[in-house]
Amino acid sequence: MAVSGIVLLGFVLVHMIGNLKVYLGAEAINRYGEWLRELGEPALPRTAALWIVRAVLAGAFVAHVVAAAQLTALNRRARPVGYRSPRDYVAANFASRTMRWTGVIVALFVVFHLLDLTWGTANPKFVRGEVYDNMVASFRRVPVAIAYIAANVALAIHIFHGAWSLFQTLGWSNPRLNPARRWFAAGFAAVIGIGNISMPLLIVTRVVG
Ligand code: HEM
Repeated sequence: MAVSGIVLLGFVLVHMIGNLKVYLGAEAINRYGEWLRELGEPALPRTAALWIVRAVLAGAFVAHVVAAAQLTALNRRARPVGYRSPRDYVAANFASRTMRWTGVIVALFVVFHLLDLTWGTANPKFVRGEVYDNMVASFRRVPVAIAYIAANVALAIHIFHGAWSLFQTLGWSNPRLNPARRWFAAGFAAVIGIGNISMPLLIVTRVVG
């Protein structure tokens, strides 16, 4: 769970930094999209490096979902009979108790997001390679902007607990380290949340685009 989580955290950070080029204008982000396809040339054929990254990402995603399912099964086996009274949580917070829900929301979002901005099936004005125009056309639709904002709130909550608990899984947990872990988790979640939410928000309100 932690190792695949680290790969996915790395992706969301790099992906967000890349997407923020939308604020530098159409040429900057379109050129960045093209650069991704040319990465590794001439040593590798065009889009080869991109496909390698996609394969690693898909592997990490599958591993993450399988590990989550195994963890859920283990949890159920540890306590087959449900609690009879409301739980009085000691160590769990809202983010940790909703990991499955926020995870499912993010997974459903990724499916829609690929249909919207990679394949264009869910975006009638989609033109391959025109990343800036595709983003503006997509986020100008109010329900789509709301869906992106809601999914990225779920992602930030998911990351807050994930970035905290990955240290636990790797055995890096002690009272001296824990304040730093908390700052790291909160900081990572806030950066991704604010960065990702800003784009649909500023485009739907016509501040950008
Ligand atoms: C508001 C936030 C986001 C924006 C503006 C955005 C934008 C984009 C764009 C424009 C593309 C297509 C790039 C191209 O074809 O050149 C893309 C692809 C993709 N995005 Fe996002 N994205 C956002 C959030 C996310 C999040 C949160 C995830 C995952 C949790 C994600 C996962 C992906 C994946 C897997 C691809 C396909 C990459 C590929 O195979 O080429 N995105 N995104």
